[in-house]
Amino acid sequence: MLKFVVVITILIAIYDTTYTVTHEIYDHKQLSYFAFLHLLNIALVIGAILHLLKDHKRDVQQLKEKIFHVQRTQQKTEEYSGFLLENLPSPISIVSPHYNLLRINHAVTELTGVKPSEIEGKKCYELFGAGDVCEGCPVKRALLTKRVQQNVKRELTRTDKEIYIQQTAVPVIDDNGSVLNVIEIINDVTEKVKLEQENRSLFVDTVTSFAGLIDSRDSSTGKHSHRVKDISLFIGQELGLSAGALEELSITALLHDIGKIGIPEQILNKCGRLTPEEYEIIKQHPITGYNNLFKIKPLEKIAGFVLHHHEKYDGTGYPHGLKGDDIPLISRILAVADVYEAITADRVYRPAMKLEQALTVMCEGRNTFFDPVVLDAFFRYLLESESGKREIVLKYRDQRTSFTKIPS
Ligand SMILES: [Fe+2]
Repeated sequence: MLKFVVVITILIAIYDTTYTVTHEIYDHKQLSYFAFLHLLNIALVIGAILHLLKDHKRDVQQLKEKIFHVQRTQQKTEEYSGFLLENLPSPISIVSPHYNLLRINHAVTELTGVKPSEIEGKKCYELFGAGDVCEGCPVKRALLTKRVQQNVKRELTRTDKEIYIQQTAVPVIDDNGSVLNVIEIINDVTEKVKLEQENRSLFVDTVTSFAGLIDSRDSSTGKHSHRVKDISLFIGQELGLSAGALEELSITALLHDIGKIGIPEQILNKCGRLTPEEYEIIKQHPITGYNNLFKIKPLEKIAGFVLHHHEKYDGTGYPHGLKGDDIPLISRILAVADVYEAITADRVYRPAMKLEQALTVMCEGRNTFFDPVVLDAFFRYLLESESGKREIVLKYRDQRTSFTKIPS
């Protein structure tokens, strides 16, 4: 509409000017006509200006309404977020990229005693009284990785009650990909952790009880599995195994001969040489142990280590004749600890070997029976356990002879 008015105004102005210049007729009638045209032109211009002003005013009004609506929505969102933050039962805090506490809800106050009015200048790790960023801090990891991070740790409440908390750190990322702040959500998982600890303790007690049952078949010392466990754990620590792997090693050591439970007493503790048939029965015990342990879900992995504890490093062992690194490391550690414990303990069919004799056997097994790396770690164990006979251990430690025979 406005464009139409402008075009008409311009056309009238052109016509008016052209006619005035080209026709020099200024009688009363023509002057009235041109005056009318001028007035019409002025009216149209004023009309157009008024129309423009009206449009402008309307646009300004609409813009104001939009700004008001956005501000109102933002305010509502903030109010709603604040309401949620305040009323969620989990302790939640908002932390800046410099670990400053920006906001906490009432659940944080209940847990730590710190009030919202006291958080100015406070760092997130100070909520539980720490002096610096905690080890494994999920906020730190969320800032670095820009991803959600979790951690479970033990803490003391303001009433000195021991609790386990699960921290979840959620980074808030801006349009440029920078972390604006981190939302930290804390969940009290004390009951869950304690239940897991109880289950673990029950599991370990069961395994230990089984080990006692296995050892009770041994008519001499009755402590074979526990001693194998101690030696194995030392070797495992020397080799830098993780806490999880050490636990697996410990359980494997306690249960490694569980398959012997079904072997008749007269074969197991026979004085004198075993017949080939009897030896074949003895050789079944890793498979029997595997078949029974594999049925128990938490022991599936352990079953595999038990299966291979009589494999030899050069591939001449049983049941599968695995060689070198194909034998699981836990089984290779167990092989060293099992043989050493067996030959240094009294049996009904033979007395315990003296240290020199036992070390000769162990050294002869290097590269054939035993993994040399595991054997080196075993000698570090001996240097501690036989500290009174250090010279003897050192003398044998560097021997590099080949294995000939391991006494049964
Ligand atoms: Fe065995």
